[in-house]
Parts: sequence; C-alpha cells; structure tokens
Amino acid sequence: MPLGSFSPHSPQTQAIAVLFGGILIVCGTIFLVVAGLVGYGLLGKTRSSWAQSLRPGRIETVWTATALAIVTAIFIASVRAMALIDAPKEDASGRTPDLAITGHQWWWDARYPNGAVAVSEIHIPAGRRLLARIGSADVIHDFWVPQLARKMDAVPGRSGYIWLEADAPGTYQGVCSEFCGAQHARMHLLVIAESEAEYAAWLRRQAEPARTPPPALYERRCAGCHTDPAKGPDLTHVAGRRTLGAALSENTPANLALWIAKPQSVKPGNRMPDQRLSNDEVGALAGYLGSLQ
Ligand code: CUA
Repeated sequence: MPLGSFSPHSPQTQAIAVLFGGILIVCGTIFLVVAGLVGYGLLGKTRSSWAQSLRPGRIETVWTATALAIVTAIFIASVRAMALIDAPKEDASGRTPDLAITGHQWWWDARYPNGAVAVSEIHIPAGRRLLARIGSADVIHDFWVPQLARKMDAVPGRSGYIWLEADAPGTYQGVCSEFCGAQHARMHLLVIAESEAEYAAWLRRQAEPARTPPPALYERRCAGCHTDPAKGPDLTHVAGRRTLGAALSENTPANLALWIAKPQSVKPGNRMPDQRLSNDEVGALAGYLGSLQ
C-alpha cells in the first residue's frame, strides 16, 4: 500500500501531507542543530563558544522565543488544515451524510440513502466530496483510507464524520486501524472512485433486488444471517464485487466456493460457522451467489 502521507489523492490528504512535510522539515532541522551542538560540546570547544559571550539570560530568551514561534506556527498551520479536513456533524450543517459506513468484526459496509449497500468496496464519484458517517456494529474499529481521508474511529453507539473524496478515478486501499480482534489485520476495504455516470449506474444497480430469487437451500442455510446487517454482510450483488472477505481474496468462483465450504479455514474466528455442507450444496450455493451481479 502506498504511504498516504506521501501519495495524497484528495484535497484533505493533500493538506495533511503539507502539514506532515512541514513539521518533518522543522523537526529534522531542530534535530540536526541540537545533535550538532551536542557534538560540538563533546569536542570540548564550548569554552570559546559564542554563547558564553552573551549576557546572562540572553540565550534563554532567544531559545524560548524561537521555540514559542515554532510551536505557534505549527499550531496555526494545524488549525487551518483541520478546517479543511474535518467534516461537520450532520445536524450542524443541515446536510445529511451521503453514506453511512459501519465497521463489523471483520468487514465494512456502506449504506447509501437510496438503499444501495456496499460491502468492503465503497464506491464514490471522483472529484466530488461525500460526507460519510462512520459507526460500528460491535467493537471499536478505525476507518482509514490513507490516500483519501483522515482516520476516524468507529465507536459503537457514536458517529464520526469524514469527507470522502478522490481527485481522480482509481482504486484506493483502506484498512481498519484500531485493534479489534483476531482478524483485525484482515479487515481491509477498497474505495473505488469512478466517473459520475459510472457511479450513478452502480448506485442504481445496488439498490435493486437480487436478480435471481433465492433457492430454498440459500434461504435455509444463509439468509438468516446475510439479510441481517448485524450478523453478516449483504450478498444481494455479491458477484459484482472484486474481492471477498474484506478485500482478502479475489472474487473468483473457486474462492467463493472455498468461503462457503470452509469459512473458518479462510478467515479463522469470523462469525460464519462451518456448516459441513456437501460438495453438491457448496456448488449450488456458489452457482447462485456467482449469478448475483
Ligand atoms: Cu476492525 Cu481492526
């Protein structure tokens, strides 16, 4: 994954990168000056140093004023960056969120006002700023797409708000950035930024019901959890996704069948129990899910 601070792709992360780079240069310079002075002192040349020729108290005044000026400049730059980066709460501005992102152990979903649901692959229009509400269904997670937005904790019972924006079409990787259990390290996501037309078409398609009515086997084995957002990810358009298991594996027929047959060996500890399905049942479920574009 490219380091977000060095590869920003939104006005918000651009501001973070400028702030980060500026502070890095200031602190690096201070380090070099202090290390240089310590080295100079170790060489035993302090007796003839210019500092001794100053009036008592003068040097203290100089370094106190310098430190105060540096900290003040960093404070002002930080406050200005925060004004650009931080999103308003929905009720403060009257604007309602364009999507609600929820962290689960261990996957993400995003729900849009028209009923569209994205699972671990969040679509946004390139070049337009969306207001996203971040929450959690279970424990504390942290939503972080380094190239696009600041981090935001996902806390059960609370909401955080971020601007989600990409300056160009593309696929941007995200992670859960707060330890949240055994599979925390495999709680990835993708943000897919596309043109307004592609985004509108995707949004419309995701809000439609499943193309094929579910077979009885699916109703019996899967629907109980996968139609309840508190229990399992929505599968209405699962075949249209690029990845499975929170961007863990590519969405191929073989990987889909492996998930259905042996969920606990693919991602140990996840909430999906091994149902000891026969090969025929796995094939039938994989075939049905694979048809859900
Ligand atoms: Cu969710 Cu770490």
